Formats: sequence, C-alpha cells, structure tokens
Amino acid sequence: MIRIAAAGDLHFDRHSRGRLSGHLEKLKDRADFLLLAGDLTQVGHGDEGLVLAQELATSPVPVIAVFGNHDYHSEQEQLIRRALEQAKVTVLESQVARLEVRKIGVGIVGLKGFGGGFVGACATDFGEAETKAFVRTTKRAAHFIREALRVVDADYKIVLLHYAPVSGTLHGENREIYPFLGSYLLGEAMDQGGADLVVHGHAHSGIERGETPGGVPVRNVAQHVIRHVFNIYTLDKFGLLVRQEVEPQTRGQH
Ligand SMILES: [Fe+2]
Ligand SMILES: [Fe+2]
Repeated sequence: MIRIAAAGDLHFDRHSRGRLSGHLEKLKDRADFLLLAGDLTQVGHGDEGLVLAQELATSPVPVIAVFGNHDYHSEQEQLIRRALEQAKVTVLESQVARLEVRKIGVGIVGLKGFGGGFVGACATDFGEAETKAFVRTTKRAAHFIREALRVVDADYKIVLLHYAPVSGTLHGENREIYPFLGSYLLGEAMDQGGADLVVHGHAHSGIERGETPGGVPVRNVAQHVIRHVFNIYTLDKFGLLVRQEVEPQTRGQH
C-alpha cells in the first residue's frame, strides 16, 4: 500500500509565505510522498518560486512537482526550477522519477501536458503552422506518456501532469474552453502505456473524480476543487483508491 499526498494549482505569489508550512508537517505519518500538479506560482516569477521553495524545504516527505501554464508566464521557469531543486523538490518535465516506498517501487511519469480538446471536438494536425505546432505539442506529450509508462520498472505507475487527460474531471467548466484544459490524446496514451493512477490540476471549476476510457482512475487535485490543502490517496495492489483530506483550504479561490 502506498499513500500519495497530492495538490495542484497552489498559485503561490510573493505574499504566500506560511500557506503550506504548517500543513506539511502533518504529512509526516500520513503520506509517503507529495505530488504537486502544476501552477505552482501565480505569474511564474522567480520570487514566487523562492517563496514556495522555502515552504517546501520543510516537507517531511519527498516532493515531486510538474509545472503548469502559469509557471511559464514570466519566462522564469528556470529560476523557479533552480529554487525548488535547491529545496530538494524533484521537478519533472517529460521525465520519470522512481521512488522506493517500503520496498515498493513507484514510478512517476511527470509532465505539464497540453490542450487540444476531446473526442468529437478537438483540434487536428492540419492547416496553418501555428495549429500544427499546437496539436503536435500535445502529440509529443502523449508519445512521452505512452513510452515512459511502457518502460518504467515499478510496482505502481502514476502519471502526474497539469492538463486534463479526460473530460470527466472538467464538469463545471465552460465547454467552450475544454480544448484549452486538456486533450483526450493524453488519456489514450495512459491506457496504452498502463497506469495505476493519474493526478492533474488546471481545471479549477471541474470535479475531482474521473477515469480514462480504459478505467485508470483520474483525480483533479486543483486546490479549488479539492477544497483542502492536500488530498491523500491510498493505493493498494488491488487498485483500491481511498481518499483522505488534509485541512480545509483557508484562502479564497484564484
Ligand atoms: Fe491553475
Ligand atoms: Fe493552469
């Protein structure tokens, strides 16, 4: 059995000091690691990354993060990455992390992902160079997910990303913006590669629970959705997923 703490869309800014540190210590006996599903910062400024890094440095469990679209906004993602890595946070962008939890191997396939839409209402790889670049970005992400899942040697395989791989966790969002919230290509790749759990963020007005067409559980852990600082999911060899919450979210929504 492994215990996974997860949250997304922290949207840390320069004034966010203290928002996490008091809660992190509670993970000590309750979780094996913490996953952060992107939009770590509000406008992607290096100073915001520093504030978050100082908080995460106090985490009693390993922290694995991916970036979201907000983290790229100021083009200072390298500064944010450096600050987080100095705080011992693992930042994945189309990379795999492997953890050992009580002799159980856990593979975490991490990436930001991208949009494109869902079956019946999606962008296609046709026409202008800009459209093709958009769709090909998502196709590359899907290819990475599929291949990484196939080769990672682990008892449990988890995909951590920012964009949504299924439309099931988007209910509540405006249908018109679904193509900017995620892509079915990502979910399809998860089914082809084989995963035990998928954790994403980005859809602040969506819902927590969904699954891929092949039945892989998908959880939207944006703090606005889970309304707690973290959720903790317990995953066992039968694939049973149980949820616990850690402390109500005390700040307003972004
Ligand atoms: Fe967000
Ligand atoms: Fe986002």
